[in-house]
Amino acid sequence: MELTGQNLYRKARRIIPGGTQLLSKRPEMFLPERWPSYYSKAQGVEVWDLDGRKYIDMSYMGIGACVLGYADPEVDGAVRAAVDSGSMSTLNCPEEVELAELLCELHPWAEKVRYARCGGEARAVAVRVARAATGRDRVAFCGYHGWHDWYLAANLASDSALDGHLLPGLQPAGVPRGLLGTALPFRYNHLEELEAIVSAGGSDLAAIVMEPIRNIEPQPGFLPGVREIASRLGAVLIMDEVSAGWRLRTGGAHLQYDVVPEVAVFAKAMSNGYPMAAIIGVAGVMEAFQSTFVSSTYWTERVGPAAALATLHKHRRLEVARRLMDTGKQIQDGWRAAAAHAGLAITVGGMPPLSHFSFDYGDAQAIRTLFTEILLDKGFLASNAFYAAYAHQPEHVASYLQAVEEAFREIARAVERHEVMQRLKAPVAQTGFHRLA
Ligand SMILES: Cc1ncc(COP(=O)(O)O)c(C=O)c1O
Repeated sequence: MELTGQNLYRKARRIIPGGTQLLSKRPEMFLPERWPSYYSKAQGVEVWDLDGRKYIDMSYMGIGACVLGYADPEVDGAVRAAVDSGSMSTLNCPEEVELAELLCELHPWAEKVRYARCGGEARAVAVRVARAATGRDRVAFCGYHGWHDWYLAANLASDSALDGHLLPGLQPAGVPRGLLGTALPFRYNHLEELEAIVSAGGSDLAAIVMEPIRNIEPQPGFLPGVREIASRLGAVLIMDEVSAGWRLRTGGAHLQYDVVPEVAVFAKAMSNGYPMAAIIGVAGVMEAFQSTFVSSTYWTERVGPAAALATLHKHRRLEVARRLMDTGKQIQDGWRAAAAHAGLAITVGGMPPLSHFSFDYGDAQAIRTLFTEILLDKGFLASNAFYAAYAHQPEHVASYLQAVEEAFREIARAVERHEVMQRLKAPVAQTGFHRLA
């Protein structure tokens, strides 16, 4: 039977270029023509599609936004109170001062805070303030940091400069060619690549931008090495905590790895599904906000700070990060065990709260698509990644891992008989950025 969500998505593709507002929510990235695509309700880790079918979300939990779970009662209560008392006025909301104090308490090196509402936007703000503070233009970076010009400028030099930084194929059309040479990529754990940028005339860097951790653990000496280079050059070290933050502890992952930046940027999980982002930093850099114009009306609304305060208080009180770590480890172990039982070759990676695996076969993407298809039929939203939420209960983990066991056995048989493509009821899922036909 035709899914209502797929019908709606076909309409969306005609009226919304690219179909969705976030590449990672494109149905083609999961299961083309079969992904439920839209939700009518989400609560805890359960999601209902437009036809009323219920799924357990064992995939991205709102692409990393809902660290507590969907529709968390405490956060939603704080949001309702903010709405009831007026989410906007000509005066400012006091919550933004309270939140600034909390963020500085959680990150004792930070002295000042500014806000935005989205991760990429907050990243662009951080790069702007670093450029304003140093009077320099060029930025060295590692990893994915959003859609803004400062970042996509890296692909002006070669359209594959950003490949290997999480999302391949990001096109820089519309980014001014004048920005060529201003964004210089290096790979995580490759200090020699950052050194090479510096030796090739990059000693005038405004900033070094990176995530403290994403897919792999830092090698000994890597983070201290980056810190040393930034200090030597007088460049602002900016830690991107948009995805890593609030997973390993109540605060940024950089605290866990003992690296002290000048600026850190938070979004996503800090407000459990409501738009909110923060840029925190040392006074010497943050004072440059007085000399560059950075200002926006909806950065002053009340829902975001109210949601963030409720999220972070609950996060700290219930030691949410500890649970995320435990659940993530169980999932990683479960994937490994299920693969071993089925005789499938997989590689598991990521910090446990943001886990992922890959099938070690030439047609890995087709196999991954088949995995999503089988799991969807068993009532799970699943891909090759698992983002842990506090709302994931042992019974969700157990039923999911049982389904993974069965799926891996089925996949192993299909691989052995070269029947993966025949088994697929949908086209193979896309990876990275593509133009939609
Ligand atoms: C490390 C990192 N930085 C920035 C962003 C962009 O954040 P947003 O999608 O909220 O603009 C993301 C999103 O996935 C991210 O993972």
